[in-house]
Amino acid sequence: MFAALDRLPALGPVTGEPTFSVYNPSTGALLAELPDMGVAHTRAAIEKAHAAQAEWAALTARDRSDVLWRWHQLIVNHTDDLAAILTAEMGKPLAEAKSEVSHAAAYLQWYAEEANRIYGETISAPSTDRRMLVIKQPIGVVGTITPWNFPASMVARKISPALAAGCAIVLKPAEQTPLVAGAMFALAEVAGFPDGVINLVYASEGADVGLELCTHPMVRKISFTGSTEVGRLLMRQCSDQVKKLALELGGNAPFIVFDDADIDAAVDGAIQAKFRNGGQTCVSANRLYIQSGVHDEFAEKFVERVRQLSVGDGFDPGVAIGPLIDTRALAKIEAHIADALEKGGTIRCGGERIVADGTFFAPTVLTDITSTMRVAQEETFGPLAAIIHFEDAEQVVREANDTIYGLAAYFYASNLKRVWRVAEALEYGMVGINTGRMSSEAAPFGGIKQSGIGREGSRHGLEDYLEMKYLCMGGI
Ligand code: SIN
Repeated sequence: MFAALDRLPALGPVTGEPTFSVYNPSTGALLAELPDMGVAHTRAAIEKAHAAQAEWAALTARDRSDVLWRWHQLIVNHTDDLAAILTAEMGKPLAEAKSEVSHAAAYLQWYAEEANRIYGETISAPSTDRRMLVIKQPIGVVGTITPWNFPASMVARKISPALAAGCAIVLKPAEQTPLVAGAMFALAEVAGFPDGVINLVYASEGADVGLELCTHPMVRKISFTGSTEVGRLLMRQCSDQVKKLALELGGNAPFIVFDDADIDAAVDGAIQAKFRNGGQTCVSANRLYIQSGVHDEFAEKFVERVRQLSVGDGFDPGVAIGPLIDTRALAKIEAHIADALEKGGTIRCGGERIVADGTFFAPTVLTDITSTMRVAQEETFGPLAAIIHFEDAEQVVREANDTIYGLAAYFYASNLKRVWRVAEALEYGMVGINTGRMSSEAAPFGGIKQSGIGREGSRHGLEDYLEMKYLCMGGI
């Protein structure tokens, strides 16, 4: 199963260097010992990227695109190996891991194509002796920090637009899930990126590496996916050099079902939006608002479906929900449940840990939830669905918007006028209408308010890695 892992040159610890361990969260088994590269390695990687930057940017877009295409094909060809590594280190069911690897490959394909579509602009000058133009140029070296919940697709989503634009990159993958990133980088080497264009830094602890990336003058942009708290810290660290940032941070997604919705479709969508990746996505539905006319029917059908979700090792057939990433994640769910019960919430199913070697939690549904409960105010990041009852559209939009976050929202309705009104009124970067899943390489992924800055995916994702330069030619 780990044939791909065995082939990776970078995965063995270098003698005498500190190392860190990577474990399987389903079994607790040790998967690998990696070199713990600190600030000195990060600095060397930045300098290497900087040295490679100009040559990579000087290639034709077609040549950069060709390398991305080769990497895309290698990832497609190695989907099974990559998915196995991903399931082993992160725990998600193998089918979800394969789908994530395909999604990663789709970003590479998209940006291999977009590399050829970097356009400038000509402007009608206000005087006859001048010509005015805008050209787009790569921003320079980009420091990228990726999370553990989508350890393959987030790597591709961040670095493929940067590479297409002509930037060299340094990547620090999450310490819990660095192996699939390592495997993808090994394939990138085969794809033929010039030396120094892509650089990987393994580290057991992100703070020092993050600080070095944010404060090294050769790094021109930071791209980070993770918590809002860490996003704020990186912003502060980047401020002295006015360094550009792309941040994809926390959410508190509302999932609203109106009386006129197709309830079976809404239940399907809620299962997707809440339990994909065991609820460990930043776009997970966190608050399920159900209108009074359909509340009981929805709750009954939803609970029935949740009871059928099987929990276990992601390699076991039929498993829908793997382990949580660690025991802190388990403790957070328990705290949210305890707080809700104390304030009048009701457990409809689940509610407890599953005793096993790994960090498993039974998929849980709570009803009688109110906006004063922690589960409605904070991102749970686990398989816990909190159902809140509501009466009218204005009230629910007000409550849905009453958060510092603005990443994703979902709603189900059929009345066209309502669909437009609600879609426009929700203060979120992404709104799913009659769907529980919207992530795509073709669409701009990202949030407003304290959920982040910038967009990933689509043509907008490429713009994030390009600088605009105005050229004014006089004396004509
Ligand atoms: C996330 O960034 O947590 C969600 C990614 C996705 O839906 O693909």
